[in-house]
Amino acid sequence: MTPARVAAERAGTDGAAAEGTADPVGRPGPAPTPGADDVVLRLRDLVVEFPAGGGRTVHAVSGINLEVRRGETLGLVGESGCGKSTTGRAIMQLPRPTGGSVEFEGRDLAALSAAELREVRPKLQMIFQDPISSLNPRRRIPDIVGDPLVVWGRGDERARIVPEVLSAVGLDPEQVADRRPHQFSGGQCQRVSIARALVLDPEVLICDEPVSALDVSVQAQILNLLEDMKARYGLTLVFIAHDLGVVRNISDRVAVMYLGRICEVGTTEALFDHPVHPYTRLLVSSIPSMETVTDADLEKADRARGEMPSPVDPPSGCRFRTRCPLATERCAAEEPPMREVAPGRFTACHHPLLDSPPPDSPPAPEDA
Ligand SMILES: Nc1ncnc2c1ncn2[C@@H]1O[C@H](COP(=O)(O)OP(=O)(O)OP(=O)(O)O)[C@@H](O)[C@H]1O
Ligand code: SF4
Ligand SMILES: [Mg+2]
Repeated sequence: MTPARVAAERAGTDGAAAEGTADPVGRPGPAPTPGADDVVLRLRDLVVEFPAGGGRTVHAVSGINLEVRRGETLGLVGESGCGKSTTGRAIMQLPRPTGGSVEFEGRDLAALSAAELREVRPKLQMIFQDPISSLNPRRRIPDIVGDPLVVWGRGDERARIVPEVLSAVGLDPEQVADRRPHQFSGGQCQRVSIARALVLDPEVLICDEPVSALDVSVQAQILNLLEDMKARYGLTLVFIAHDLGVVRNISDRVAVMYLGRICEVGTTEALFDHPVHPYTRLLVSSIPSMETVTDADLEKADRARGEMPSPVDPPSGCRFRTRCPLATERCAAEEPPMREVAPGRFTACHHPLLDSPPPDSPPAPEDA
């Protein structure tokens, strides 16, 4: 039983999407086991910048390197404005990044022509925070869910696929046939968004704060639905959120972002139990209890930590240095490179917190 399933049961909800095992998009079998050797997405030196007026630049994402393994759920966390959504959109090539590359199944998406990118795009789908506003209010639910099939020239498959995928996400195709989004709750609209994302048979689902706008009990249902869909269709999830409790529940591994850069990457348990980057430690220590954390707790902790600097004028060296209790002169002078400090555990810090490492960790690397 997964932690998300536990959370749903604690909340008194079943979280199940639908009975039956039919595969509406024709891809049977369970999710593959996540493996380090099967990388489905690889971000290399990814850079996204925006013009900020007056000749200035917003450095939203500044040289990210990250791997997403087939079949895993990778959580992407960090406070508001650190570049999570920009990273998600850059993976989708919406818009194409300023620099670096996004490789999907070994192909550099930036190097593809518009026609080639169009072929790949159905394999990468995204769902968003506000399900109601992301659905066209004038269209009926089956049309909303079936539209991507029409756009991709598979309109004749709508009658077969749309009812099947609606059932898979826990909606009765007959009951929703004449309904429009405003007749549904936020949780039901998120089910519609997930159905729409699934009709094109994706490999990767990028979930950008998919439960942040929902009540806690509904959050648990949607998290369980995502886990069910992941298992049923063999999906890989990139799960973006600022709520650490949610990310801890659903993720196999977690990447922590701060001001456009990745600070730390590791398995969920190791990262939460033994944070090695000072920013991760600050984030983790701000959670009073994983079971009882509220938005008010998170806001209070955010205020206590102070303001993140502007991405228009980020600090030199380590971008976290203006808020880091361990900062030294070296931190202002040199950008810390990402290093593997334990198997599968990466951090970008000149002075990582390796004084009480996990028992199977190797000795701390030389800090020249
Ligand atoms: N189109 C844009 N033009 C200019 N600046 C942008 C644009 N999109 C994002 N930004 C800026 O890039 C930075 C990163 O934004 P992003 O939305 O990726 O952050 P986030 O981590 O998703 O935040 P949140 O948790 O609030 O959703 C922010 O400073 C934001 O203002
Ligand atoms: S590199 Fe320096 S400033 Fe940055 S997190 Fe590590 S100790 Fe803190
Ligand atoms: Mg965002």
